[in-house]
Amino acid sequence: MVSTTSSFLLLVVVVSSSLMFFVTEAQIPAPVKGLSWRFYESSCPQLESIIRKRLEKQIKDDVGQAAGLLRLHFHDCFVQGCDGSVLLDGSAGGPSEQTAIPNLTLRKRSFKIIDDLRKRVHNACGKVVSCSDITAIAARDSVVLTGGPNYNVPLGRKDGRTFATEQATLDNLVAPFANTTVVLSRLATKGLDATDAVALSGAHTIGISHCTSFTDRLFPNQDPTMDKTFANNLKRSCPTADSNNTVNMDIRSPNVFDNKYYVDLMNRQGLFTSDQDLFTDRRTRGIVESFAKNQSLFFDKFVIGMIKMGQLNVLTGGDGEIRTKCDRRNKNKKLDIATVVEELEETFSALF
Ligand code: HEM
Repeated sequence: MVSTTSSFLLLVVVVSSSLMFFVTEAQIPAPVKGLSWRFYESSCPQLESIIRKRLEKQIKDDVGQAAGLLRLHFHDCFVQGCDGSVLLDGSAGGPSEQTAIPNLTLRKRSFKIIDDLRKRVHNACGKVVSCSDITAIAARDSVVLTGGPNYNVPLGRKDGRTFATEQATLDNLVAPFANTTVVLSRLATKGLDATDAVALSGAHTIGISHCTSFTDRLFPNQDPTMDKTFANNLKRSCPTADSNNTVNMDIRSPNVFDNKYYVDLMNRQGLFTSDQDLFTDRRTRGIVESFAKNQSLFFDKFVIGMIKMGQLNVLTGGDGEIRTKCDRRNKNKKLDIATVVEELEETFSALF
């Protein structure tokens, strides 16, 4: 009898713990068609270690680069899908994805870091890894290296050959003065729900903002949903509405990927309307509170949001290309002596 009871208990423990495992696993979005968890397993097994090692150094030297790289992946994916289009240099200064207002504050260094990673990866494996995949891995590593959750990134994206117009860029990215209704409806068009919206906004736990992204909340009148002391301190950093200065986005732990962003929101210390309104709006308030109380819950939901976002409208298989340089699309190789010379130069610089 005793042994039957204990076997039953053992069975319950085993079944329930494996169920717990499956529940968590089941929440991780599956790779979309054409992407896989092990895409470069045989063609470039060193890919992820090359990127991690290099970013460990870059982020140790300047922790702000983590925020820049994370935002770059978001701006890539939301406009025309995660196809590396944001990395493309605009044609002769004409209106392009890069010259659209939200992209003007992307860090110039982020673009350099991505192409430097591309160079290292291509030197080790040949031209087999796309710039958009490198951007997705760099975003994940930026989260990990600032203290956030680790997760696997579905891989196999190809790079696009076109970039979006300024207008399409504006239409797809959300403005900081957007309220929750706008944030939720914009994200819903990308298959992201309210939990994804709140979790992904938690990326604002690291990084900086220019004053102009939020001074509409300070001048001419102070936004009543903003804590008064917080507002007065912001006015010291941003004395005028068009000040060029920057401030940290998370006042509690600006360089650490943690759940303090949600604690900020609960204390009315969110920087943008799009942040603070998540706490004001009844539809998202409970989610903000749950993340403020439970960091692991935030991390789990953030990972789900990132994997969903990272698979938006990806190009795979025969669509798109593997760019030779991340800031320009490949030219017709037969005609393009310059590309051949550049590739030879890179091969030689890797050898010597
Ligand atoms: C919900 C919509 C969002 C809005 C309205 C928004 C808006 C902004 C704005 C205005 C800035 C500051 C730009 C500046 O003035 O320098 C910023 C910074 C940043 N955003 Fe967002 N964002 C949103 C979602 C996201 C998402 C989904 C991510 C990533 C998953 C993200 C990651 C970041 C990071 C890391 C920074 C700091 C960048 C740096 O320090 O260089 N944001 N965001």
